[in-house]
Amino acid sequence: MVEGHRPPDKQWHERWPEKFIKIQPAGSGICSIAHYAISQQAIADLPPDQPKAQLLFAIKQQLCVVKIGHNSHRNYIANEVKHLRLIKAATEARDTPFFAELLDADPDLEYPWLATTAVVGHTLEDFRVNLSPRVHDAQCFFFHLFIQLSAALCFLHEMQPFPLLHGDLHDENVMCDFRRRQDYEGLPNVVLIDFGSACVQDWDVESMLEKETGPYHVGRETCRFVQLLKAWGKEGAALGFVGEIEEAFGWEMDAERCNCTGLWQRFGRLAVEQRQVCATAEALGIVERALRVEVLDDAALIKAVGR
Ligand SMILES: Nc1ncnc2c1ncn2[C@@H]1O[C@H](COP(=O)(O)OP(=O)(O)OP(=O)(O)O)[C@@H](O)[C@H]1O
Ligand SMILES: [Mg+2]
Repeated sequence: MVEGHRPPDKQWHERWPEKFIKIQPAGSGICSIAHYAISQQAIADLPPDQPKAQLLFAIKQQLCVVKIGHNSHRNYIANEVKHLRLIKAATEARDTPFFAELLDADPDLEYPWLATTAVVGHTLEDFRVNLSPRVHDAQCFFFHLFIQLSAALCFLHEMQPFPLLHGDLHDENVMCDFRRRQDYEGLPNVVLIDFGSACVQDWDVESMLEKETGPYHVGRETCRFVQLLKAWGKEGAALGFVGEIEEAFGWEMDAERCNCTGLWQRFGRLAVEQRQVCATAEALGIVERALRVEVLDDAALIKAVGR
């Protein structure tokens, strides 16, 4: 999260890149506004005269999200582009569904923008609202969140030559992808977005983010991860699991002793077992109902491609 922001101005909305057709809002943050969109090229490539259902399917395959930065936060878009490029290079040979892929960008403009693959789904924050009041009856999702965010963070923290830190881990920067793929049947894949505050953990680089009392590093990011989990693990087996983590790392979560790789080595197997135990038909039913809340407006998709 960024401090010292000012309210968006009208121009911000008008600086839309011509390559893309805006479809509908995807969300907004302090630094930017994001829209689901489709490229003019993708529209030109759509086969003509398709029945509506097939056309909608084809459009959804080509969806992206265009994020435009406010000029007072230009650096955040440039920073995000820089780090998404590093991730793209690192993921090229590997199957990692935990990040949105950078497709295009112009970070040097007064109102810089970037386009990534779209996550069709809700942020963790909205997903919790959709699950409510049954959120703690869907404990399988808590363990799934631990498993998938551990994989995403271990990947970043093990990047070479330096660990990459997300830098802004919270419920609105994690999304539940309903569409792209499900690594565990019935549970949405988790995707980490918003690399505007990302940095590389190189102790020699002066521009290291200063968070709270000291430099931000893998230990601090791991503590943030556990904080995020605690909000989801307030009852039953999930609460016990969080308690075991705190027992292992101390109540104060000693950042110097924490790292995601160690956390995974110690608790990964237990989480996989617990997810399986908790994934009862009832729990998966609760998740399934929460996933039914539509994100995309079919009429807006058809209108955007001019059919
Ligand atoms: N690839 C994506 N797919 C779907 N929705 C997205 C995507 N990227 C961003 N969004 C939506 O837009 C919102 C704002 O995006 P993001 O968090 O990247 O911007 P920000 O301005 O940097 O946020 P912050 O206030 O955390 O700094 C997200 O919370 C999410 O709802
Ligand atoms: Mg954000």
